[in-house]
Amino acid sequence: MSIREAKWIKSKKDLGEVCPLFFAESSFGAGIKSATLEITALGVYEASINGVRVGDFILAPGWASYARRQPYQTYDVTTLVREGGNLIEVAVGKGWRFHKCKEWGTDSIKPDGTALIASLTVEYEDGSSEEFITDKSWKVRASHTVYSSIYNGEIDDFYRTSGEAYAVTEFPYDNSRLDCSVGVPVTENEEIGSPAVITTPKGETVLDFGQEITGYVRFRFTGFPGRKLALQYFEMLDRKGNVYTKNLRTARQRNEVIQDGNERVYAPRFTFFGFRYVRLEDWPEEVKPENFTAVAVYSKMERTSEFECSDELINKFYSNVLRSQRGNFLDVPTDCPQRNERLGWTGDAQVFSRAAALNYDVSDFFKKWLADLRLEQREDGSVPATCPVSRFGTGYGSPGWADVAVILPWNMYLAYGDRSFLEDNWDMMTRWVDYMQDCALNKSKDGQMSHPWTTDGYGDWLSLDNPDLEAAVGKTDKGYIATAYFALCASILVKAGRVLGKDAAAYRGMHEDILRYFRSTQIDGDGKIRENTQTACVLAIAFDLTDDKKAAGDQLARLIHEAGDHLTTGFIGSAYLLHALTDTGHADVAYTLMLRREFPSWLYAVTKGATTVWERWNGIRPDGKFAKATMNSFNHYAYGAVEDWLVCDMAGLNLVESDPGYASVIFAPKTDPRITHAKASLVTARGKIISEWTTGGDGATEYVFTVPEGVRAYYTLPGGSVQELHAGENRIKQ
Ligand code: BGC
Repeated sequence: MSIREAKWIKSKKDLGEVCPLFFAESSFGAGIKSATLEITALGVYEASINGVRVGDFILAPGWASYARRQPYQTYDVTTLVREGGNLIEVAVGKGWRFHKCKEWGTDSIKPDGTALIASLTVEYEDGSSEEFITDKSWKVRASHTVYSSIYNGEIDDFYRTSGEAYAVTEFPYDNSRLDCSVGVPVTENEEIGSPAVITTPKGETVLDFGQEITGYVRFRFTGFPGRKLALQYFEMLDRKGNVYTKNLRTARQRNEVIQDGNERVYAPRFTFFGFRYVRLEDWPEEVKPENFTAVAVYSKMERTSEFECSDELINKFYSNVLRSQRGNFLDVPTDCPQRNERLGWTGDAQVFSRAAALNYDVSDFFKKWLADLRLEQREDGSVPATCPVSRFGTGYGSPGWADVAVILPWNMYLAYGDRSFLEDNWDMMTRWVDYMQDCALNKSKDGQMSHPWTTDGYGDWLSLDNPDLEAAVGKTDKGYIATAYFALCASILVKAGRVLGKDAAAYRGMHEDILRYFRSTQIDGDGKIRENTQTACVLAIAFDLTDDKKAAGDQLARLIHEAGDHLTTGFIGSAYLLHALTDTGHADVAYTLMLRREFPSWLYAVTKGATTVWERWNGIRPDGKFAKATMNSFNHYAYGAVEDWLVCDMAGLNLVESDPGYASVIFAPKTDPRITHAKASLVTARGKIISEWTTGGDGATEYVFTVPEGVRAYYTLPGGSVQELHAGENRIKQ
């Protein structure tokens, strides 16, 4: 027997907003050899056996395309189960399945839809086994969590909890959807203690944890029976130093506790918050910093890269990128952790995926998300804007967003050398590209491409070249962006087909057609890109759309200069901007943009005290005002995509497409007199690779490249010629 034979149960009595606590007693004989619990819930669960928590997965079973796949977990619970009576308890919160915010239609989470399925298998020393499953014999009562919502927070009432037990009902469910969960559990990974205690000009008491994280505060209270404690989580203090919650939109981000008089160390269990600050409302006792610890929760990932250079602000920016990744890799790669979105926006993940795979081992994390993306792909091949599909992300087929279906598997294959990224996703990848081709040809005369395949989508999201700085969509023509990504995806299929030994001739032909169309409609005879924006030039260079990259690079450098030596790019252009400059002989301009501290730039936010990457270049404007609250997250990793330029171009540590997973490595640092030292390291399956350079007072640069045994390593000399390196440390002075 397994979980598939167990029964789904839910409370017979509608508990409304209150989260149910399912429980049962099971009795086992002597000589237990092992015990295994398979479990999942509609909602999010926390299980315990004999009072001890099972596993450390926060918000299990995680978030998936529930309509098609219901993940379940398997835990070894041998140490928790004992001979004789055992009490199994499972509290089920509303989770992503039942979340509600006003903008999602309603913020009522009634009636209660939560349900549970589980099976506990005990194996005995004598080879026999016993199974204990969820069925009608279980009972349920109201847990102390009387309200839980991913967006709004949690209310725990320890005071009024009644012990009354109710019956459960079994109900039918398609158990073929049960899916033994891949992916990475979300766990408590960091603790930040001793916050500063601030009194705001309005007289409110606020805890400042000094950095933005995603998670919650664990705190100790002594207990006043019936007294309510309330915590309001938020990201920013306003210009006057008062609490600012407007940018949360309708996400309430509150935690309330009704005390029962007992001293407790408490944390909410079915929600998370994006925050740096917490307002304590009407706190009944002295606020002692040592009683409060912020706990960062995210998918457990191994850190793989390290980076440092001689510019302290850049180093800070790098750690902000890492923090934004941690704060947004919570089972699903989310856009932001605080407002009423927290969704797996596909474009954000697409642009950030290369940097993500440098920072942490995201292989299993993205395998799981890609499995959901495959399920969310529409019958006609189109790909959604968010995965899992959600009420906000109902748009399908947005260029740069939907292309994640091709770009992400390819980037992960390159980062890890794991062919299964291509094997598992080949069907999704080709169906998406075929879909674009169908759209392009449907609009065309004589089967020749004469239109962009779409003129729709999110465009160069949040760029600065729209005269209205608050506008979301930039100036670069959406059809141009669509064609550029279409070409990129077709070219990736040609390469992926080669890896897999598939016949990709059709995609080679398709790619040539797209290029022919693109070049005849978008590029002048002298190589000038007609769509005269920074992002248009970036895409033409980065996606190999022009055969005169030098002209496009010069145009890009000119546009940057004309803008006042700053970028105007949005999500789409910024990801490749510095690479495009470096690859066309303008590394100095790339450095100028990276080193710029004034608005707009990557470091501008750092000068304003950012501890994570902001959603907008102008999240806080130079005059100190916030950008429009409707779209102003302070923890959004998309612009952090540039970090891969720091590692690959500044420090010079690069993978090799034809020998992926760092089986080969090319060291190609691009130095600049404004930086005297840079170092990046990367832990790979073959060992740690390090690229480091230091320029001394005499102007000479010393390079130190460390190569693990068995890795083929090359160094590209400034003139372009290539030198082979040996395992161990290679020192070169030039
Ligand atoms: C999200 C973005 C996302 C975008 C789509 C926003 O609301 O926060 O990061 O990619 O919508 O355009």
